[in-house]
Amino acid sequence: MRWTILSLFPEMFVPLQTSILGRATKAGKLQIEVVNFRDYSTDKHHKVDDNSYSPGAGLVLSCQPIYDCLQAIDPEHKAHRIFMTPAAPILNQKRVIELAQYEHIIILCGHYEGVDQRVIDTCFDEVVSIGEYVLTGGEIPAMVLVDSVSRYVDGVINKASLISESYLDGKLEHPQYTRPRVWQGISVPEVLFSGNHAAIQKWKDEASKAVTEKFTKN
Ligand SMILES: C[S@@+](CC[C@H](N)C(=O)[O-])C[C@H]1O[C@@H](n2cnc3c(N)ncnc32)[C@H](O)[C@@H]1O
Repeated sequence: MRWTILSLFPEMFVPLQTSILGRATKAGKLQIEVVNFRDYSTDKHHKVDDNSYSPGAGLVLSCQPIYDCLQAIDPEHKAHRIFMTPAAPILNQKRVIELAQYEHIIILCGHYEGVDQRVIDTCFDEVVSIGEYVLTGGEIPAMVLVDSVSRYVDGVINKASLISESYLDGKLEHPQYTRPRVWQGISVPEVLFSGNHAAIQKWKDEASKAVTEKFTKN
């Protein structure tokens, strides 16, 4: 799967080169490129923003550099294009799994007050928020999107890890344990050593239900 991230701060994307995503990129399962759309500004000082027309608001990213950047990297609009913004539907696991079907996704990271709505309306397919809070820029939201979706790309992680995860079927996952069997006087639940698959499954289901009831709204 190919990702193209449009950002004014390409140096922020080091996390995508490490651990599982870094290995998947080296193995050719993922291709992640970050493009600084300032390079496409036709302003003699490479300006990419201007004052908002809304009184009192700060700087807004202008249409021109973003539009020209998209024309250069995806002239026929073949990629699925997403703008990260808090003013959007909140990302969930269902949408994460659906997005993994695209061959190429372009993500635009906003900054300051946001982005001129005209380039969003005419050039982007989807808007995505990562939660009910506001960050300084779209770089961290873009990394959240790349990480969560890339897990569902073939060969990125072990398929077995995806089977009983939180948010599938509306449930949260049961707790996990590893060695030692007793740590600071706290034992791993006895049933996990029973070898009784039905009993273990029953424990997992009940523990999952308890966590879900504790932390899920409604
Ligand atoms: C300071 S925010 C702009 C917030 C905007 N004025 C508003 O109130 O909706 C700057 C940029 O950060 C990104 N951003 C901030 N919070 C986000 C969130 N929860 N989800 C996705 N992107 C977010 C967006 O790209 C946004 O354009």
